[in-house]
Amino acid sequence: MKTRTVLVTGAAGFIGSNFVRIFSKRFPKIKIVGVDDFSSGKKSLLDRRIIFYNASVADAKAVEKIFNKHRPEYVFHFAAMPRVSLSVEKPAETTKANIYGTALLLEKSRDYKVKRFVFSSSSSVYGGAKILPTKEGENPPNPVSPYALQKYAGELLCQSFGKLYGLESVCLRYFNVFGPGQYGDSPYSTVMSAWLERLYFPKKGQRPFLEGDGKQSRDFCFVDNAVEANILAFESVREFFGDVFNIAHGERTDLLAVKVLIEEFSGKKLSLKKRPIRLGDVRHTHADISKARKMFGYKPIVSFEAGLQKTVEWFKQRASTRT
Ligand SMILES: NC(=O)c1ccc[n+]([C@@H]2O[C@H](COP(=O)([O-])OP(=O)(O)OC[C@H]3O[C@@H](n4cnc5c(N)ncnc54)[C@H](O)[C@@H]3O)[C@@H](O)[C@H]2O)c1
Repeated sequence: MKTRTVLVTGAAGFIGSNFVRIFSKRFPKIKIVGVDDFSSGKKSLLDRRIIFYNASVADAKAVEKIFNKHRPEYVFHFAAMPRVSLSVEKPAETTKANIYGTALLLEKSRDYKVKRFVFSSSSSVYGGAKILPTKEGENPPNPVSPYALQKYAGELLCQSFGKLYGLESVCLRYFNVFGPGQYGDSPYSTVMSAWLERLYFPKKGQRPFLEGDGKQSRDFCFVDNAVEANILAFESVREFFGDVFNIAHGERTDLLAVKVLIEEFSGKKLSLKKRPIRLGDVRHTHADISKARKMFGYKPIVSFEAGLQKTVEWFKQRASTRT
């Protein structure tokens, strides 16, 4: 039977809004129901054409109402209070959104017989993998922050709902996602978005900074690739019960190289203030993405450089329209 309705949590967030944009184009006949509480999401990112609820995924009444009314067949769960530093500051509040919210959505997915639940997990569950490139099987989870623990708990919940009730689910461990729609204006912003925000929206006394020598590297994942992984997980004819997959480019880039590319694409000089390396920061991340390739055909469809160029263009366009 054809899918009629999907639920997208975090629809006003960075990855969720990109997902809505791409998914609605690819599957114009499927109805999208979105939910977001705007804790970090933006009204400007929300697609007004979808059915939308301004509610928390940790609000049992609201979530029941949404499932009862729309009976989604697939759930794409992007909503979360992300960022390690926020979770260190607010462990209880983030636990409510990130663990309780996920458990509630899984419970409703069980009750309303959802066909598959796609969970946004994170590379942070590795806690600094020992072996690079990181393979899911070789590096057991070692969550060292409340955020990492919350994401790992989400994966374990997906697995137990599979065992207990036969609910199908896929857990996608994204590595450092970037792209249009990622604002850099919060104290919890990722490095790339924070640099671009200050480059295009300079503020007195707030120079962008570089922690350490800039030789630390990340497997930066362009957002369209993360969205593509969700779509492939949705389309796959295999059965999954909480299986975990790395989602990244499968290559790493150091911060100094990112700086050089930003300067090239923007035509501006990015002057960075030096700061000492953050305690507990991992030196390198680099994903092995062969499991996702093998199991549902994932491969990055946009290269790192092309993705960065699109990201710079988005900031440029925002700056020209002051949005
Ligand atoms: N961006 C990354 O690099 C990255 C990496 C790994 C994992 N992830 C995961 O991907 C998902 C999306 O991340 P993002 O980068 O788009 O972040 P984001 O902050 O832009 O999006 C999260 C969205 O969830 C909403 N939200 C938060 N709590 C909510 C609640 N209780 N009820 C309803 N909505 C709520 C926010 O308002 C926001 O719109 C998150 O689950 C995040 O943990 C992101």
